Amino acid sequence: MIEQYSLGHYCRHKVNLIDSALAQYTPADAYPPIIYDAMRYSLVAGGKRLRPIMLMAAADAVGGCGANYLPVACGLEMIHTYSLIHDDLPAMDNDDYRRGKLTNHKIFGDGMAILAGDGLLTAAFGTMLSQPNVDSAILVNVVKEIAAAAGASGMVGGQAVDLASEGQIIDAKTLKFMHQAKTGALFKAALRAGALLANASKHKIEALTHYADHFGLAFQITDDILDVIGTQDKIGKPVGSDMRNQKVTYVTLYSLEGAKQLAQQAVDNALVSLSEFGSEAIILRDLVEYLITREA
Ligand code: IPE
Ligand code: IPE
Ligand code: MG
Ligand code: MG
Ligand code: MG
Repeated sequence: MIEQYSLGHYCRHKVNLIDSALAQYTPADAYPPIIYDAMRYSLVAGGKRLRPIMLMAAADAVGGCGANYLPVACGLEMIHTYSLIHDDLPAMDNDDYRRGKLTNHKIFGDGMAILAGDGLLTAAFGTMLSQPNVDSAILVNVVKEIAAAAGASGMVGGQAVDLASEGQIIDAKTLKFMHQAKTGALFKAALRAGALLANASKHKIEALTHYADHFGLAFQITDDILDVIGTQDKIGKPVGSDMRNQKVTYVTLYSLEGAKQLAQQAVDNALVSLSEFGSEAIILRDLVEYLITREA
């Protein structure tokens, strides 16, 4: 059941739950501190916590209780945070700020930042498998989907195409694949995980999968747009990173106006995917509408 009806309330409530759970999974006295400090630095640096929120919102939308799935939700956030640490490394996007703070490698050095990412990725799987009160066959299936979404056929694959495409000309199809893989795959896994954990019907899982496809695309298009028209104060990371790295983005391929239109189209498609849901999907509807206006 959805206990909070405004998006702001809902997100603040979930962020509090997620932040406390994440703090428990990486306690301040964990040994050896040299690696746990680096992991915690990026994990507790803030961030919108959108992937775990979407997992919970999907479970709520199918009549379950999203807050019951904190271990799986936090595992997703650990995977996402690791991907950001590695994405910022000098060998990748070479960025100095993330979530309003110096990037992990700027504080701990490249080697330790790589290990902090490795530590978070590995911890994610242990954390997800500690999820109580879920049939083990369902949990195994969910963790398998998240592994596929995070790996070479999902996020890592998208990042590989992104890296290999720097300074190259790529077509619209490749760009769409790249966005859906590097960013969309984890969102899709989050939404499907919430629905699967809450025993949703096949029909509802399919609808949420379509929603997720459009949401993920819209999210990365707006990320590309914010890299051009955002402010570092609000996005907590440098503006102009894509141009500096000669990335092909929705803005470079379609212009700013074209990218905005395509983001709006993806948002509209996401909303259509929810047409058979009633008020129980209010948070999912509000989340996708927020995408278009987000400044961070
Ligand atoms: C940034 O993700 C990386 C992308 C996939 C575009 P978010 O915008 O969700 O970053 P945080 O978690 O809020 O820092
Ligand atoms: C990265 O895309 C997506 C990830 C999987 C981390 P970007 O490189 O555009 O993300 P930001 O803009 O640095 O957050
Ligand atoms: Mg990148
Ligand atoms: Mg980047
Ligand atoms: Mg970006």
